[in-house]
Amino acid sequence: MSDFVDIGHLDDIPPEGARVVKTPLGCIAVFRTSEDEVFALDDRCPHKGGPLSNGIQHGRSVTCPLHNWVISLETGQAEGADEGSVATWAVKVEGGRILLDRSRFSRAVAAE
Ligand code: FES
Repeated sequence: MSDFVDIGHLDDIPPEGARVVKTPLGCIAVFRTSEDEVFALDDRCPHKGGPLSNGIQHGRSVTCPLHNWVISLETGQAEGADEGSVATWAVKVEGGRILLDRSRFSRAVAAE
């Protein structure tokens, strides 16, 4: 079941930019593409935990600022020769507001 929470306006994130949302399960990087698509991934590179939110976005991918791995914003998978993945989160835009699916971290809090 989905449980979406409003995390801000689309214009709070510049095109090809990212913002970090702190959750009980760690930081989530929310990316806005040049096409105004929005994607959300754990803000930890699958290589050595680099902050993907500080990476360079290109198309539907982001290049990690630490060692230049390229991660798909759609799937969280490392691209090219690199292997590994990062968790993705359901996110959508409605009426200009960005809505993030918090059902997973709601369950995590309930389980504590
Ligand atoms: S930590 Fe991201 S490429 Fe190494």
